Amino acid sequence: MGPMGDVRHLYVHVPFCAHRCGYCDFTTVTGHDERHAAYVDALLGELAARGGCLADPVETVYLGGGTPSRLGPELLGELLDRLPRAQAETTVECNPEDVTDDLARALAARGCRVSLGAQTFAPALLDVLERRTTPAGVRDAVGRLRAAGVASISLDLIFGIPGETTDDLEGDLDALIALAPDHVSAYELEAKPGTRFTVHHGAALAAQADRVEDHLDRVVDRLGAAGYDWYEVASFARGPGQRAVHNTAYWRGRDYLGLGIGAVSTVAGERRANGPKLAAYLDDPAGAPCALEAIDAETAARERLMLGLRLAEGVALDGELADLVDEAGVARLVAAGVARREGGTLRLERRGRMLLHDCVAEILR
Ligand SMILES: C[S@@+](CC[C@H](N)C(=O)[O-])C[C@H]1O[C@@H](n2cnc3c(N)ncnc32)[C@H](O)[C@@H]1O
Ligand code: SF4
Repeated sequence: MGPMGDVRHLYVHVPFCAHRCGYCDFTTVTGHDERHAAYVDALLGELAARGGCLADPVETVYLGGGTPSRLGPELLGELLDRLPRAQAETTVECNPEDVTDDLARALAARGCRVSLGAQTFAPALLDVLERRTTPAGVRDAVGRLRAAGVASISLDLIFGIPGETTDDLEGDLDALIALAPDHVSAYELEAKPGTRFTVHHGAALAAQADRVEDHLDRVVDRLGAAGYDWYEVASFARGPGQRAVHNTAYWRGRDYLGLGIGAVSTVAGERRANGPKLAAYLDDPAGAPCALEAIDAETAARERLMLGLRLAEGVALDGELADLVDEAGVARLVAAGVARREGGTLRLERRGRMLLHDCVAEILR
């Protein structure tokens, strides 16, 4: 490994999935289970080649996917043991159907936080999403993780699913709250134009678009009443100690190193995207990136503003950011009651965070 650097956040992409869910646009690989071990070796090879920018210790490690839990307890355990140990948080994304007692114990033994993809508890909507799990499968997985001693569990919820009614969403929130996760990520369904999913569900997706604000209002109300703090547009924590440290670093515009196919890194003013092809990666894990882009100071500041306004804590309007912001626009948001300015920090109020994109457009020069 090269000289020690100052990048404190490491993302590791594990692309394998049992099958491809219709709505998913992440870099995934189905089948090829025989390549799991070779992929783990390749990740470690890439780490050896590119990890010189990392601080020692790193603050967070995040294994995302794809489906990291698909590696199984032994290989996942080996990977976790050979990655840098994170000082503050190690998160592993899991699919409910992979959570055996052995997997739960492997994660608990390494002090991992688990992010579990529930998405919805309505069987008909799980079918629309082409998910392979059942509501009982999600409950079982949470039970196993807790029983094994996993201290922090986050559940992912998706709303705006074709055919979803208000009652469906209320039912999802009841089921979610009953499981008492430590953290919740609640995402509006994003459907990419031109995909099979979007073509198939076009009219139903258009109907959902009209209800998104109402859905998010309900999510924020219900989770707030259940004691969750809405600390980021799509994120809710049972207390500040349960916030997602890795994701928060990203929203604060910190540098991160990404390993694995399709992974993105932002280090010292340069953004790099790894290629998406498994075979090429296995041959040469630290090979040429598929995209390399210089991030100049203005672009970095613009991103820091857009990401920082997602956070309830807001963003400090100093340095480069001050030059980007139209003070008259800020004044209009404050007068409309959707933003607050305290000292040098700009925060969006509830309504403002619901209308995030409009607010950002209003204040960017
Ligand atoms: C990268 S995925 C992988 C996690 C895991 N394989 C799973 O399916 O739960 C992480 C999360 O992103 C969210 N997600 C994926 N595709 C989405 C989409 N098209 N729109 C909104 N959220 C999405 C889901 O909530 C999912 O749990
Ligand atoms: S399991 Fe997760 S990552 Fe894999 S295809 Fe489904 S949503 Fe995408």
